[in-house]
Amino acid sequence: MCGIVGYLGERNTKEILLDGLKELEYRGYDSAGIAVLQGNDFANYKAVGKLINLEEKTKDFITKGFAVGIGHTRWATHGKPNELNAHPHLGEESYVVHNGIIENYAELKKELLADNIPFLSQTDTEVIVHQFEKNLKSAKNAFEAFSTTIQELEGAYAILLVTKSEPNTIFFAKEGSPMLVGINTEGEKYFASSDTPLIGQCSDVNYFEDGDYGYVSADEIAIFDRESKQKKPIFSKLTQNKLSAQKDGYRFFMEKEIYEQSDVISDTLMGRLSEDAVIFDELDKNLFDDIHEIKLCACGTSYHSALSASYLFERYSKIKTSVEIASEFRYREPIMSKDTLFIVISQSGETADTLETLKMAKKAGLKTLVICNVDNSSMVRLADSSILTRAGIEKGVASTKAFATQVTVFWMLSLYVAKLHNTLSSQEIAKQISLLREVPASVKVNDEMHEKMKRLSKRYLHGHGFFFIGRDIFFPLALEGALKLKEISYLHAEGYPSGEMKHGPIALADPELFTIALLPEHMLYEKAKSNVEELSARDSTVCVISPKIFTKADDFVQTAPHKDYMLEFFEMMVVLQVLSLEISIRLGNDVDMPRNLAKSVTVE
Ligand code: F6R
Repeated sequence: MCGIVGYLGERNTKEILLDGLKELEYRGYDSAGIAVLQGNDFANYKAVGKLINLEEKTKDFITKGFAVGIGHTRWATHGKPNELNAHPHLGEESYVVHNGIIENYAELKKELLADNIPFLSQTDTEVIVHQFEKNLKSAKNAFEAFSTTIQELEGAYAILLVTKSEPNTIFFAKEGSPMLVGINTEGEKYFASSDTPLIGQCSDVNYFEDGDYGYVSADEIAIFDRESKQKKPIFSKLTQNKLSAQKDGYRFFMEKEIYEQSDVISDTLMGRLSEDAVIFDELDKNLFDDIHEIKLCACGTSYHSALSASYLFERYSKIKTSVEIASEFRYREPIMSKDTLFIVISQSGETADTLETLKMAKKAGLKTLVICNVDNSSMVRLADSSILTRAGIEKGVASTKAFATQVTVFWMLSLYVAKLHNTLSSQEIAKQISLLREVPASVKVNDEMHEKMKRLSKRYLHGHGFFFIGRDIFFPLALEGALKLKEISYLHAEGYPSGEMKHGPIALADPELFTIALLPEHMLYEKAKSNVEELSARDSTVCVISPKIFTKADDFVQTAPHKDYMLEFFEMMVVLQVLSLEISIRLGNDVDMPRNLAKSVTVE
């Protein structure tokens, strides 16, 4: 995910900015840049790839005396990872860096283009600096122009802006993306999008709140709230533990990533929903022309999201859908017809088996689409079209937020196709879109649930295995729940369709067989309930996850009531993730780096 740093002080500004960006490397990025303003002189450098490339470009650049600087590491969301799209973005005499997404950038850009303002990049960010300079023409001063600009922006952002019209100042704004300012006894001021770059540099920090904006100069920190009322900074001591700061205080990256899901899903949705339509600017309007079938292909967790997608495509888009495990598909001489859209799903975009199937589909002349988290990855480069999931870098080997954003994209895509093919009424699409907007809230981890999972976990550390069961789209979720547990606890777990148990697996039922049953209210409740009762009757140890009270289980986790089964899906997904996490922690395993597993499987 993108990272921001800023600095006002006397030391060599470039070094401070590059050191700060290095501390943000763990978040992942594909390009980086800095802009330094000293008096009336701007210096700006950008580079694609690792920070070493930016270091190389700036090796002869030194500042002596007071200067202001801003820096950025970019994880591409709008526009390819190249130098033009890297931040900082330049207007005529100002530079901006930004994290988040400006939802109304297309409208603002249209107006700016009509005023003949040239755009260099494909990013949403560039509108900020041009809009600021447009406002500057009629404003009393730079701060007034900046305040007006902030009020015109919709979306999520952490912004730093420097301008020649106020050369010793950094302007900032925060809405939905984190940002803090730090101080030290030498009178220097630092900005960053998370604690880590400031550790060792600052003693005290002020965390900005949503709606905060203002400016910082050598001797002033001016913060205004959403109502333009000035407020005092509230400084607190900065932790000196870097690793814990990288994990935002969570015990493991996986835990942090589970908690992050609400925010990253908001990013996935951002700018892609209107009242009655899903918007994928990145897709060619003709992509679905003459397409009568969808084939999804992936590995592991991504395969489970593909399976989930098949329920949505057939239910909403009324299009025949099949799902394939990539390592099987590539060797089984499959029949591929040209009216099939071939979709590969991959967090990394590098998984060897999935990549190979994409090559096969291209060779057979099929239209191809990749749903991926990493821009410029091999699959994104190869496929005809791509949709980025915008989950940010995922460090825990066991995938959590990548899965959540993949399913979100598929839900959106099924509605996008439904609109194109007229398979759902416009009222139904509008209803589904309002449900999609509730996903970020449905995946928020509440303390009570987490505490319950901690307590429950101690009862599930032994036994001869786990069954995770569910029906319909809750079957792929059961598979994913079982995979999560397997990966990080090393306990044997299988996912099954609830209705399939009696065809064999139920023979295993005894008190030492643990069944985790998904019982959503809005998807085949009665049917799934009787499947669970069959297991209870055979004395299997059962843990039911449901919004409806269920008395015949050994353990019961009550989820919130929701209007729709998909919101139940997302909440139950989080419960399963937290349960696996807590079991793994109790077993003393390395949650983030489980044995025998790698994050990116680039070999067959
Ligand atoms: C499980 C997990 C793996 C990956 C699989 C595919 O938690 O992360 O099963 O989902 O290796 O990886 P990608 O999605 O990068 O193609």
